[in-house]
Amino acid sequence: MSGLFTTRAKRIVGLGGTFRQASSSEQIVRAVLADCAALGAETIMFDGPALARLPHFNPENPARTDEESALVEAVRECDGIVIGSPGYHGGYSGLVKNAIDLLEDLRADARVYFDGRPVGLVVTAAGWQACGTTLSAMRDVVHAMRGWPTPVGVAVNSVEQRPFGADGTLSDEGVASAVRAQAQQIIAFAMDTPQMENTA
Ligand SMILES: Cc1cc2nc3c(=O)[nH]c(=O)nc-3n(C[C@H](O)[C@H](O)[C@H](O)COP(=O)(O)O)c2cc1C
Repeated sequence: MSGLFTTRAKRIVGLGGTFRQASSSEQIVRAVLADCAALGAETIMFDGPALARLPHFNPENPARTDEESALVEAVRECDGIVIGSPGYHGGYSGLVKNAIDLLEDLRADARVYFDGRPVGLVVTAAGWQACGTTLSAMRDVVHAMRGWPTPVGVAVNSVEQRPFGADGTLSDEGVASAVRAQAQQIIAFAMDTPQMENTA
């Protein structure tokens, strides 16, 4: 029926991480997604190896691999996004930026890029300086893409903090609480902007 608001589960897309086994930025994005799922959301993750399989974005080549199309479609249909990057040389990684550049495919959509949606940001770096500069740079990207960065950004200094225990559980209560708060902000924002039912 047209004109009704749906009550379907909110869809949250995670993207980020590196090639490293047990990439800390990937683990934190997954932790935010897990808290979003605990709040009733459906989640999907595009991790470092998945992002590494995306070709370099070429604005003059409209051909898309299945994996490129999967990422674009997931973001097109989602209600919120979580992006995680390591701090590389004071900024976010090329792997993550290449994936974001591919989202140029959403430029002509009625809901352009990240329009109207919350975006949680996660950074891990080997120092507080890169935590801050990378988080700030990612916020600028989200603003440029018409998204709403959540007030809580999660920044982990991998030299001073070891947030995950040997069994992979998030054992640092400070980080866990920031992760939880970010997930709550993503879901609360997404719930306030219900999607019209798709009658197609
Ligand atoms: C190429 C490269 C550049 C890096 N540059 C910085 C940097 O500028 N500042 C910093 O604090 N850490 C830097 N690091 C450390 C990473 O940010 C840190 O190890 C991060 O936690 C790795 O994320 P991951 O566990 O998801 O792979 C760099 C690491 C690499 C491999």
